[in-house]
Amino acid sequence: MADKIVLEIARYTPDRDQEPSFQSFEVPLRKEWVVLDALNYIKDKVDGTLTYRWSCRMGICGSCGMMVNGEPKLTCATFLSSYAKNATVRVEPLRYFPVIRDLVTALSDFLVKLQKVKPWLIRRDQPPLSAGEFLQTPQQLDLYKQFSMCINCTLCYSACPVVGLDEEFVGPAALALAQRYNLDNRDQGAAERLVTLAHPDGIWGCTFVGECTRVCPKHVDPAGAIQQYKLTAALDWVKSFILPRGHEDTPQESAHDGPNYD
Ligand code: SF4
Ligand code: FES
Repeated sequence: MADKIVLEIARYTPDRDQEPSFQSFEVPLRKEWVVLDALNYIKDKVDGTLTYRWSCRMGICGSCGMMVNGEPKLTCATFLSSYAKNATVRVEPLRYFPVIRDLVTALSDFLVKLQKVKPWLIRRDQPPLSAGEFLQTPQQLDLYKQFSMCINCTLCYSACPVVGLDEEFVGPAALALAQRYNLDNRDQGAAERLVTLAHPDGIWGCTFVGECTRVCPKHVDPAGAIQQYKLTAALDWVKSFILPRGHEDTPQESAHDGPNYD
């Protein structure tokens, strides 16, 4: 293995540059280094103006996502040595997001989309404290646990061609998060979320390319969550014709077989 590698890094300062350009930096190629270590080396030793986000360095905070050789990656979880046979490694900001500076993307639109799906427990009634805790069995937890592992790294948005074509598309992580709450037996908000979810910019916008699931570092499987919800929404629609008056179940409730704490 060579002992050096070249990083081509996208640089962009909006009030100075017309458009992004690439700057090359040669860095040591150490087998224990991840791409983020190389960026930190450049910032510490070569160019302190290089701008990027990171925090935990252990795949938890979700802030270090970037395009590495064209693939959305967590740079703290991507070994530099994986690119040892390439002459260079290209590091760019996550695709489909506006760039604030260098490798830092704007997240405001993503945060609005997260809010849109009401990612919190919604109750029609609020039992008194004396009723005790909302108990949940391990089986009930298993129904949604996978969808609760999201770290909001936005890699799935950069991998999704629909996000690139339709900026109104709610997107993989937000849709998976909605399903996380819809499948939680303590929640009664599925009908409220339906307005955002069962919409051309919601689940019906997804063409099931599946790239979101492939790139997700936490195995959330947003594509699976969306297809699961498509099925529930379609069944609910059919039910509304068969049982036009008696049909009051929300998609969530029809998907549940556990206690509802009503
Ligand atoms: S679903 Fe996966 S890829 Fe998408 S934001 Fe969450 S953790 Fe990141
Ligand atoms: S620095 Fe926190 S996930 Fe990479």
